[in-house]
Amino acid sequence: MNVAEQMCPQVWQKIKTLADTHETPFLALDLNSIKEKYDELQQGFDYARIFYAVKANPADEVIELLANAGASFDIASTFELDKVLQFGVSPTRMSYGNTIKKARDIAYFHERGIDLFATDSEPDLRNIAKHAPGSRVYIRVLTEGSEGADWPLSRKFGCNPEMAVELAVLARELGLEPYGVSFHVGSQQRDIDVWDGAIAKVKVIFERLFEEYGISLRMINMGGGFPASYLHKTNEFDTYVAEITRFLQEDFGDGVPEIILEPGRSLVGDAGVLVSEVVLISRKSATALERWVYTDVGLFNGLIETMGEAIKYQIHTDCEGEAEEVILAGPTCDSLDIMYEDHKYSLPLTLAEGDRIYWLSTGAYTTSYSSIEFNGFPPLKYYVL
Ligand SMILES: Cc1ncc(COP(=O)(O)O)c(C=O)c1O
Repeated sequence: MNVAEQMCPQVWQKIKTLADTHETPFLALDLNSIKEKYDELQQGFDYARIFYAVKANPADEVIELLANAGASFDIASTFELDKVLQFGVSPTRMSYGNTIKKARDIAYFHERGIDLFATDSEPDLRNIAKHAPGSRVYIRVLTEGSEGADWPLSRKFGCNPEMAVELAVLARELGLEPYGVSFHVGSQQRDIDVWDGAIAKVKVIFERLFEEYGISLRMINMGGGFPASYLHKTNEFDTYVAEITRFLQEDFGDGVPEIILEPGRSLVGDAGVLVSEVVLISRKSATALERWVYTDVGLFNGLIETMGEAIKYQIHTDCEGEAEEVILAGPTCDSLDIMYEDHKYSLPLTLAEGDRIYWLSTGAYTTSYSSIEFNGFPPLKYYVL
């Protein structure tokens, strides 16, 4: 692929210089790109508050940049909370967005001033009432259509609409403020219509709570799901904005409630290029048609989202000439550590041990997912450009 088309030439040059002078693997992160994406998102959804999903890339520099840009933060654990607090972010700009939490962690958030909590179950709601009394809660609902997402988040999080209504009513009884409803349509969601169904479902919950229980919810948290630039094409970002805004207006008219977005991938994905080195190229028999290309990065040190070949990154090498299909695998002694076997990437026959392979749009869910010592390999390093 032509990297020049995808990336600013100066940025690409800086990455090449790092690649020439630094031991691989590492992630090169372009902070300017993150700022541009943030501005684009905020301008597109000018009526929404952006809570950055810290899990996507928790680098200090990313948090600092987004904190200074005015972002709020979707926090998943006490560790993320401590990290974001270090940058002087007010607790009013944070939510505890994980529906799975220990009672003592709820208390920890409450003690530090966070008063906005996600929930999707009665035991969790009761824990919030006990350890963060008086807080605002939003109920996460299950959504359909996660097949359109390259990294679905269905099943594990959310409850059905009936239960969402019951939880909001219970929240009020427990002295909490039933504040809103959240959903996540699945990460790297390529089917925009899925937001339509999710928003319609939320609308029914709003109406039922108001009409049957006199509860006025005030907020919809539409989660993440916006795309980064991988192999499979997605709609332009402007189309996401126009369509989702239209869905909201169709359902809520002039009464669109407060809107929260929790982007992760779409803010930081395209800002990263993972630089790796070819460790070995081999064939399994003298007549085998495919080469196995083993790189020094794999599922356990940055590329976990290639599991099931879910996320298909664009890759680049400087080698040229006739290309042939390859199987791409990582460096560890686990046979799970194969990035792409069904989907065939083609790489030039001139590719050799020691050559660099560049994995584009790897700024999200790479460093944060990297194991700490599997096979002795250290966690994925990153350099900020
Ligand atoms: C609660 C929540 N919000 C936001 C996100 C970020 O989603 P995305 O990376 O698709 O923008 C996630 C991802 O797992 C999530 O679980």
